[in-house]
Amino acid sequence: MKIGLLTGGGDAPGLNGIIEACVKNLLRANADVVGIMDGFEGVFRHQTKSLGLEDVEGIHRYAGTVLGSTNKRGINSSADRASFLERYEQLGLDGLIVAGGDGTFRALSQVGSVPVLGIPKTIDNDLPGTDMTFGHHSACEIICRSLETLRHSADAHRRIMVLETMGRTAGWLALNAGLAGYADAILIPEVDFSLDKLSSFLRDKLKGAQRGLVICVSEGVKVDGKNIVSRTVEGSPEAIRLGGVSQILAQILENSLGIEARHVVLGHLQRSEPPSVYDRLLSLRLGRKIADMAINGQWNRALALRNGKIKDVCLSEFQAEPRTVSLKDEAITDARSLGIFL
Ligand code: F6P
Repeated sequence: MKIGLLTGGGDAPGLNGIIEACVKNLLRANADVVGIMDGFEGVFRHQTKSLGLEDVEGIHRYAGTVLGSTNKRGINSSADRASFLERYEQLGLDGLIVAGGDGTFRALSQVGSVPVLGIPKTIDNDLPGTDMTFGHHSACEIICRSLETLRHSADAHRRIMVLETMGRTAGWLALNAGLAGYADAILIPEVDFSLDKLSSFLRDKLKGAQRGLVICVSEGVKVDGKNIVSRTVEGSPEAIRLGGVSQILAQILENSLGIEARHVVLGHLQRSEPPSVYDRLLSLRLGRKIADMAINGQWNRALALRNGKIKDVCLSEFQAEPRTVSLKDEAITDARSLGIFL
């Protein structure tokens, strides 16, 4: 048996854990494992390497992915599809295991004749079909720690610090980490807010004992009804990259409150630290299970976490619209009951 393994889309802590657990289990079943480099690029360009125990031993503790990844290329046209299928056939694989995000899953829907297995991945936690993606927990740890760290400087200077998280159109990162870090205000794309109400909330807070304030804002929050776009990546399944709302917000608040405000864009630090224990456990379970499915020939399925259990589900479950925060989510109630502006 010869199985291909690739990682696609933006990296997320835990990818190396998937690779280590999956490869170890495939090797135990005497399968040959072919690592495909840089996501789908590796299929198009035939950049592959045979993976042995020595290639994966201990990699679970590092962020990134030893196979490389890219979120710059999807399978966007019928020409792409034909070329992908031709290049894939030449690799002589029995099937392909893919850890990726929504762009990767959308691309998989274009190559129906290839036996594939999918593992959902993103720090954003916005994939439909699963309760939690690996990488999200690790990113929340970093955001939470950053909020708490920034509070020292905010207090020292009596300033407002606005911390911007990733997350695209979903507010999970800002919501979960902002709550864990007891931010004074959490702003997410799913919850409309009024700048006047935010300003008067912050003004009142500063009349009390608090010297400085910390706001956690998701990159997908709109200003005057518009997303703030930082760049466009041609060819990417999701071409628009968001970013910059924290700077605009800090300026608006400084002007309206007459209090100094600064912004911090946490950016790719959110993806770059070693995985948390939660993500290590989740990724090793996913990696082990996906290898078992390949060995048993259960192709064209994906893995999902549902109520704490790992289930195999239809690939199409991950090809729907992003899973955003519901206004009924308990975390919103929790935040409000703690006096957080949300
Ligand atoms: O989807 C994961 C993610 O990290 C988003 O939260 C973020 O908007 C985007 O990827 C950043 O993409 P890039 O790595 O291309 O800058």
